[in-house]
Amino acid sequence: MRERVRVLFNEEETNQKIRELGSRISREYEGKELTIICILKGAVYFACELSKRISLPVKMDFMRCSSYGNETVSSGVVKIALDLDEPIRGKNILVVEDIIDTGRTMNYLLEILRQRGPESLKLCALLDKPDRRVVDVKVDYTGFVIPDEFVVGYGLDYAEKYRSLPYIGVVEFEEDES
Ligand code: IMP
Ligand code: MG
Repeated sequence: MRERVRVLFNEEETNQKIRELGSRISREYEGKELTIICILKGAVYFACELSKRISLPVKMDFMRCSSYGNETVSSGVVKIALDLDEPIRGKNILVVEDIIDTGRTMNYLLEILRQRGPESLKLCALLDKPDRRVVDVKVDYTGFVIPDEFVVGYGLDYAEKYRSLPYIGVVEFEEDES
């Protein structure tokens, strides 16, 4: 089987969308200090680009989660593999994630963060696959809504490949000729 990546959103479309999100977030948090929580590893490219487009003081902290069991089927039982450096009590927190699929990871994570007493807690996702949703998650800022296809690039991986692509694409599989 050969793999190829079909472009879904090219580099310019993706960057334009991130600029729009950055402007919206800048307006809505005007006068406030914002802390972005970047969910490793997938959201790292998006979080960096987005934070550059926000015209406010932005701090960034990182979290890495791993779900128990099969990686392709989200179990909803999330382990925090790397926790934040700083407490979030009283802060304006924007969680930045690559993609919301079943919603299980974010549902769990947002609940943990809420218990830590932030002033506000919102979610920004580059991509959303609402058709796949199993648990309800409110996405406050969405880049692109996409159908149920497996996407890579701009931080998203397929078996750790393709994260560094500067665009978003769909992995397609073809039979080898011979
Ligand atoms: P959820 O708990 O099902 O919402 O899982 C979301 C996580 O699954 C994301 O943070 C990604 O790591 C991964 N994921 C879901 N869909 C895709 C995809 O299309 N491409 C790459 N990773 C994905
Ligand atoms: Mg992820």
